[in-house]
Amino acid sequence: MADKKRVFVKTYGCQMNVYDSQRIGEALISEGYDITGSPDSADLILVNTCHIREKAVEKIYSELGRYKKVKDKSPELKIGVMGCVAQAEGKEIIRRQPLVDLVVGPQSYHRLPKMLRNVEAGEKAIDIDFPTEDKFLYLPKTKKKKLPPAAFLTVQEGCDKFCAFCVVPYTRGSEASRSPVHLLAEARSLVEKGVVEITLLGQNVNGYSYIRHNEDWGLARLISELAKISDLKRIRFTTSHPNDMTDSLIKLFGTEEKLMPYLHLPIQSGSDRVLKAMNRRHSVEHYLRILSRVRESRPDVAISGDFIVGFPGETEADFQATLELCEDVKYAQAYSFKYSSRPGTPAAKLKEIGEDTKSERLSRLQSLLMQHQKQFQQNMIGRRYSVLIEKEGKEQGQVVGRSPYLQPVFLQGSLDLLGKIIPVEMKSYRTNSLEGKMI
Ligand code: SAH
Ligand code: SF4
Ligand code: F3S
Repeated sequence: MADKKRVFVKTYGCQMNVYDSQRIGEALISEGYDITGSPDSADLILVNTCHIREKAVEKIYSELGRYKKVKDKSPELKIGVMGCVAQAEGKEIIRRQPLVDLVVGPQSYHRLPKMLRNVEAGEKAIDIDFPTEDKFLYLPKTKKKKLPPAAFLTVQEGCDKFCAFCVVPYTRGSEASRSPVHLLAEARSLVEKGVVEITLLGQNVNGYSYIRHNEDWGLARLISELAKISDLKRIRFTTSHPNDMTDSLIKLFGTEEKLMPYLHLPIQSGSDRVLKAMNRRHSVEHYLRILSRVRESRPDVAISGDFIVGFPGETEADFQATLELCEDVKYAQAYSFKYSSRPGTPAAKLKEIGEDTKSERLSRLQSLLMQHQKQFQQNMIGRRYSVLIEKEGKEQGQVVGRSPYLQPVFLQGSLDLLGKIIPVEMKSYRTNSLEGKMI
């Protein structure tokens, strides 16, 4: 029998790309491929790409350039580009990097097996359509009998919000939610294979909306139904938009024990003037009101956010307002980025502010955010929290889990603990993690 073909999948970008890559990996296993961890031994390389900032895109082209050597050694190698760069740039990718054989956008993955057969026949294959069907229904489920304790599940895709700076509405298409019937079935099958925690994913996950028997299933209803799966112990969701935070979802933080006390709610800027220019369609006050209601519902909730500094026209006073907002909120964790002009977005037409100003503001913001993150972790020292043990640590006899607030927690313990939720006393903290002791 001929050796099986090997595929190497490299993933950039957000958690939705991680989920997509997993599902594509499973689909290719069904097609007779083995997954390999090294591009050098691969017959097929797939790069799952992110278009969100210019740097992310440049990284991908340099990655593709590196595969030239691999291709020189094994001319039969096929190279495919998937994800958001594929969607945005289409055949331009093949023009810029002729090594590429296949380009497939995020909504066409179920067509990948057929495209690969065309590629095998020596053709170049490109598909950047936005078909309306749920691609995940057509991608085979995993054949693995045992899965790691924490899993992702995409419930919603795309975005209709059109923030002035953002490519997502163009790369992922308009908002679409998957059927709750399929999602509950997928969740049950994950749990049967050992999954204990599910993170529901969507570009606007709290915009989840599915009409079933004339009833609108929002995210709160979906979470409540998932929570009935008894061996599913923890539920998370990301990323949310302030304008889609419904009353029922806010209340759920206080009533549904399985919903973890962690909310990633990006605002991007603390200045109403900048929010308006960004087309965010909400004010700072509206955002703060949501946070205080979430905190009323669940006082210990950890808040996380995203920020863009140096949006066109941002003044020092606007930036100060962002710093003040952070002082108010005291984020447990946050991501911050320099504004990056993206082709085809409305903000790309605006005059940019200087790179030095952007860098300087980013470092001021990041040092403040880091201070708050440290305070949050420091407050946890000496207290007990439940930790879901997810994997073996790097050190002998060490395991790693997650606190309710999503931080990695390192502790001494045996591998029998994998998949268990145990009480841990926090002993010390580092920038992004905690160290604890099992009680
Ligand atoms: N749907 C989510 C965010 C998706 S993109 C939301 O609305 O919050 C993830 C983050 O990337 C954004 O929150 C934003 O902070 C950042 N981002 C998006 N476009 C960007 C750009 N053009 N330049 C810099 N950062 C950007
Ligand atoms: Fe992008 Fe705005 Fe949509 Fe988030 S809400 S994905 S930032 S357009
Ligand atoms: Fe990037 Fe696309 Fe996700 S642009 S952040 S991979 S939706």
